Amino acid sequence: MNLDLAYRSFVLGVAGNPRVERLIKDRAKGLVRRYVAGETLEEALQAAEALEREGVHAILDLLGEGVKTEEEARAFQRGILELVWALAERPWPKYVSLKPTQLGLDLSEALALSLLREVLREAEPRGVFVRLDMEDSPRVEATLRLYKALREEGFSQVGVVLQSYLYRTEKDLLDLLPYRPNLRLVKGAYREPKEVAFPDKRLIDAEYLHLGKLALREGLYVAFATHDPRIIAEVKRYTQAMGVPKERFEFQLLYGVRPEEQRRLAREGYTVRAYVPYGTHWYPYLARRIAERPENLFLVLRSLFGG
Ligand code: FDA
Repeated sequence: MNLDLAYRSFVLGVAGNPRVERLIKDRAKGLVRRYVAGETLEEALQAAEALEREGVHAILDLLGEGVKTEEEARAFQRGILELVWALAERPWPKYVSLKPTQLGLDLSEALALSLLREVLREAEPRGVFVRLDMEDSPRVEATLRLYKALREEGFSQVGVVLQSYLYRTEKDLLDLLPYRPNLRLVKGAYREPKEVAFPDKRLIDAEYLHLGKLALREGLYVAFATHDPRIIAEVKRYTQAMGVPKERFEFQLLYGVRPEEQRRLAREGYTVRAYVPYGTHWYPYLARRIAERPENLFLVLRSLFGG
């Protein structure tokens, strides 16, 4: 395993320790402000408006995952429905992301499917697109089943995510082709064993481009969700060389990450969306951002030792 991945594995490993969680929650206020739009829907909508003024569209994400009770899953569903209704009142943005375990996937797939179906029944007629985020590898199979079930029920405003770090992903992509998915492609943000995921960042990056090009060649709509300058440059080069129009793909980045690049891509005429998380359950999201970037860990440590 190379250093980047060993670092990620270490951070995500210790982040689960309750003491570390308490420490980060106390000390990471600055990082939270950078990566999370706020605790309320109102704050998230304000952040979305500011992005929109710069030509960047928002993807609203009510933070939450890994729920342990049906009551909690239903509470998150209510929050997501409030978000959908609020977006319906505005010309933009019309896009939400959610996590299957936020709607009870770990309790029962049937529960998650029924809560998701209710969300889509509200979202689809209002023109709001719903992206199912992809979580860690034990949830991939069930998440793909949920996506396929919703498409088979006739919903179209729903999208799926594939992760280039998993060995299985090319096969998953080929299996999904009959569904003509609106695909978000990411590298993958979780701590995965080498039995299921490439243990080398260069392989993950190469696989990302391989899968992205394959999806474009197959005629899918692809959301390239990455901040990686080399990958963004290669997607631009490839699509130009192959004559793939800008309507067939987009770039997605995270709120607070490379904002100047987000604006630059928008000015160049690409569709750009920023993933805007909000809510009180920000800890696991922030832990993944720290795990992606050693500088973020230094910021937490500095606040610890520097007072
Ligand atoms: P990489 O990690 O190689 O970073 C490339 C460069 O980007 C870095 O050198 C740095 O400059 C910058 N950068 C990256 N992360 C940064 C950070 N946190 N802060 C500041 N700069 C940073 N994952 C998943 O498993 N399931 C999902 O559903 C999603 N969904 C999703 C949506 C969107 C819109 C994005 C952008 C990402 C995701 N991800 C995700 C996360 C994804 O898997 C991945 O962990 C991150 O995007 C980081 O990987 P990069 O592709 O940016 O490359």
